[in-house]
Amino acid sequence: MNSLKWNDEFETGIEKIDNQHKELFRRTQMAIDSLLKDDEDGIRDVLMFLNDYIVEHFNDEEEFQKEISYPKYDEHKAKHENLVHKVKELIEEFKKSKDKSVVSITINTFLVDWLINHISQEDKGIANYYKNLTK
Ligand SMILES: [Fe+2]
Repeated sequence: MNSLKWNDEFETGIEKIDNQHKELFRRTQMAIDSLLKDDEDGIRDVLMFLNDYIVEHFNDEEEFQKEISYPKYDEHKAKHENLVHKVKELIEEFKKSKDKSVVSITINTFLVDWLINHISQEDKGIANYYKNLTK
């Protein structure tokens, strides 16, 4: 299992965004813990939470990018939309499948990797751009 430990590398320095990212880490870790315990209700709760929370978080992050006229806004937004879509698919898969291990693998590989890569690379890009603006 991949692990989702928060460290300084993930900090963007933008407080609201960092707090939301920490919450995403925490909830995704909860989904992994539920999977390990075969706790279907727990997994469902986390997936439903993430379904709403990522939309809210991405909206906030996109608003911030607009405020600072971030040049890669469109590209970044497309990546967000892709994850929103993927989480919806994951929920459908979860509802349909008797064998939850498929969802388990997807959460562990895709979702964890997506969060780690997206936050440490794409969102860092926003943070660096912002830092240069305020220098
Ligand atoms: Fe982002």
